[in-house]
Amino acid sequence: MCGIVGYVGKEQAAPILLDGLSKLEYRGYDSAGMAVYDGEKIVIRKATGRLKVLSELTHDGTTMPGHIGIGHTRWATHGEPSDVNAHPHFNSDQTIAVVHNGIIENYMKLRKILEERGYHFCSDTDTEVVAHLLDYYYKKYDKNPLTAVTKVIHRVEGSYALGIIFADQPDTVYSVRKDSPLIVGVGNGGNLIASDVPAVLKYTRDVYFIENEEIARLTENNIEFFNVDGDPIEKETKHIDWDINAAEKGGYEHFMLKEIYEQPKAVRDTISPRIKDGQIVIEELGMSDDEIRAIKKIHIVACGSAYHTGVTNKYVFEGLARIPVEVDLASEFRYRNPILEGGALVIIISQSGETADSLAALRLAKERGVQTLGIVNVVGSSIAREADKVMYTWAGPEIAVATTKAYSCQLVAQYLLALKFAQVRGQITDSQLAEYLHEIEMLPNQIEILLGNKERIQKFANRYVAAKDVFFIGRGIDYAISMEGSLKLKEISYIHSEAYAAGELKHGTISLIEDGTLVAAVVTQEELYKKTISNIVEVKTRGAYVLAVTNDDNLEIEKAADSVIYIPKTNAYFTNSLAIIPLQIFSYYVSVGKGLDVDKPRNLAKSVTVE
Ligand code: AGP
Repeated sequence: MCGIVGYVGKEQAAPILLDGLSKLEYRGYDSAGMAVYDGEKIVIRKATGRLKVLSELTHDGTTMPGHIGIGHTRWATHGEPSDVNAHPHFNSDQTIAVVHNGIIENYMKLRKILEERGYHFCSDTDTEVVAHLLDYYYKKYDKNPLTAVTKVIHRVEGSYALGIIFADQPDTVYSVRKDSPLIVGVGNGGNLIASDVPAVLKYTRDVYFIENEEIARLTENNIEFFNVDGDPIEKETKHIDWDINAAEKGGYEHFMLKEIYEQPKAVRDTISPRIKDGQIVIEELGMSDDEIRAIKKIHIVACGSAYHTGVTNKYVFEGLARIPVEVDLASEFRYRNPILEGGALVIIISQSGETADSLAALRLAKERGVQTLGIVNVVGSSIAREADKVMYTWAGPEIAVATTKAYSCQLVAQYLLALKFAQVRGQITDSQLAEYLHEIEMLPNQIEILLGNKERIQKFANRYVAAKDVFFIGRGIDYAISMEGSLKLKEISYIHSEAYAAGELKHGTISLIEDGTLVAAVVTQEELYKKTISNIVEVKTRGAYVLAVTNDDNLEIEKAADSVIYIPKTNAYFTNSLAIIPLQIFSYYVSVGKGLDVDKPRNLAKSVTVE
């Protein structure tokens, strides 16, 4: 996700901003920029590409003199990566500059209102709306910056961490957040704002953590805080003991654990902009109802974990929208001369948007003239650019090779798409839609509950660091969950593991079960509880140790399995979003217990851009 920094003090601002941005590079970005007040005016320099480009453009900041400024590394969400879309953004008079991390969900509506009031936009970003809205309120309320800020935060919806400077008040940095992180660093001879602690550690270990809708006003020697109505509030500093490496991970030991814990927010960021007044709104999809009704078959094509989300959503699309679905591994799809007929929709799922096999599958589908949709996490990536339509997962940058939050966002993005198709095709009633959406909106909170009790799973994982073979079994969607649970364990702990359709055990695999073999049984599909329980009994009688992950609180499971992890109830279509959480945590702690490099497992890359 984006990173913001700001500085006001005795020193030259630009070199400090560049240094701060360099400590936020781990967050992933595609462009960077700075705004510095040079004594007469605000100067902005920004460019796509790595921070190095901005450093060279500004000769390490030396060509941007001034003691106050804001900086930004952009992870594109709205608007392709480009110089004009990079932050900071100006108001038209170039007297206000703003940097932003987050998503302004109502930016299209606000942009329309501002354009009707004569404002002209030069970028495709949601953030530029904030710059013009600040201008509007600044002029309307006697050029009072604090009032302008409070008015803006009452109008915008969504998530934001903002850094703002006003040319009329060139000794003050304003900052405010809602749902995007923000801290204030108490420097010596200068004060700072940043998205995250690493950006300020070089200058101070005393920081204020800003809460939602709190406003900070910084000068060289003073820091004040205000509530959303502009009333002064008091805050306490915190002393940071983390080293820089730990700080980049937000205090977590590994990026993977940080990203596991970011899943509630990532899922919330992916669903909330697409559910408005009880309706599913996927603006970027650009498919008319007639086009949706004309779909005759869906092909879901992906690799690895992304493929597993497709296997899950075959059940969801077919169950809800009654559209036939075929799911393929991209490396198979591209060489099997698939039958793609009129009315087919090919959905390519990819976190990176650069996976070679998935990109090749997309190009094959396009050659065959069928419609293509990318469900992608990286804005402006190859698959995002080349697919006819794109639906973004707003997971933010995922650093760990083993995907977690992007996987969870791919799941919910497909739930929403399936529900949208089902509604348009008259397969579900409005009241059914409301019920499904309620269940989906509950998922982030339910994930949070699961994340709150990791200790038991951690202890259990420690018992299996020496395991040689682990089996994951399930039926229906539980089989798809097993696939992902097995891959997570394999890729970061190097323990051999297999996912099996529970009903297949008797067709060969059960011969592998020995005394003490760990079998993780996923049991979330109510209609299949009894069937899977009988499979649990089968493997237990052959010596297996069975860990059940289930939402069934009847005694049957307790009697059948050796250990049971309960997950909250949700609609049967959506259980993967919850059952996968304990399996992610289990795999993580097995890998940690083995002392392995969790974030960078051997032989693996975050994006497989070659065949
Ligand atoms: C999963 O943890 C792996 N990182 C891998 O299977 C990944 O899901 C696969 O390579 C697909 O990557 P993509 O989503 O970037 O296309």
